[in-house]
Amino acid sequence: MERFTICLINQKGGCGKSSTCFHLAGSLAVTGLSVLLVDADPQGSLSQGFFGSEVVEQLPLCQTLAALFDEGEFFSDPNALIRNTGFDNISILPTNHHLGAFNVPCPEKGGMLQYAIRDFLDQLDRFDVVLIDCPPNLYQCSWNTMIASDYVIIPVPPEDFGTQGLRAVHQCIDHARQLNPKLRRLGHLVTRHDKRLLVHRSYEQRLREIYDRLVFDTIIPEASAFKVSIACRQPAEFFDKRSYAAESMRALTNEVLDYIRNKSQRHVA
Ligand SMILES: Nc1ncnc2c1ncn2[C@@H]1O[C@H](COP(=O)(O)OP(=O)(O)OP(=O)(O)O)[C@@H](O)[C@H]1O
Ligand SMILES: [Mg+2]
Repeated sequence: MERFTICLINQKGGCGKSSTCFHLAGSLAVTGLSVLLVDADPQGSLSQGFFGSEVVEQLPLCQTLAALFDEGEFFSDPNALIRNTGFDNISILPTNHHLGAFNVPCPEKGGMLQYAIRDFLDQLDRFDVVLIDCPPNLYQCSWNTMIASDYVIIPVPPEDFGTQGLRAVHQCIDHARQLNPKLRRLGHLVTRHDKRLLVHRSYEQRLREIYDRLVFDTIIPEASAFKVSIACRQPAEFFDKRSYAAESMRALTNEVLDYIRNKSQRHVA
């Protein structure tokens, strides 16, 4: 199987983009796939999930993803920016506040900078899967990841879809496809779902009515195990593989791999 790159995008803050990247990396890694996580959010939450905030905040720009955007930076070996996470098969290109200065609105006017992440990934050949975490906006960082990716996953909590800016997300994907025609929507992923709540069940049903096959069967529950395992700096699969959290991430992994390997009709043109 060729390497594939997935970005997680939604303008809605706190919808589970970073958590999904963190835990999905664990479930993909135990299948034997070599995973590269790219933290493209200046908040650096994904990086902090592995190394803690003190370490991440002190990284100099030249050791973070911001180096890809900084004209002053030149690196002969792109692998030097990538770090081991301490987990087999999971590496990361970390990020911190330095990236904020480059996350400008109107990225499509950014010339060659639009291709910064894509060009970087093109130089790497030792990974099977790349997962990219995005900030809660559609500025330069999210735009760059859409240019660099094969697939988009849109995490969606079961709340008012209008307030999540889904229409703008889809417009941005369509726009990015003018520069990256291979970009496909892998699906909306219902996150933070509490099945006891009628309102959550109603919103899930509504999402399926609107987007039909472009919604994953797997639902990510609101579960404290997700928070606890991040606090312990371990993807749920490593923290407690029998937890409901780990189980739901394995189901998502199977669904993702199935769609990608079998080129399911889910991918809209
Ligand atoms: N399924 C879940 N169950 C319980 N807590 C969750 C779940 N998903 C995310 N959270 C918690 O919600 C908070 C926000 O999640 P996360 O950081 O993954 O969202 P995000 O979309 O990356 O946010 P941002 O837009 O700020 O980057 C975190 O504290 C996280 O631990
Ligand atoms: Mg995040």
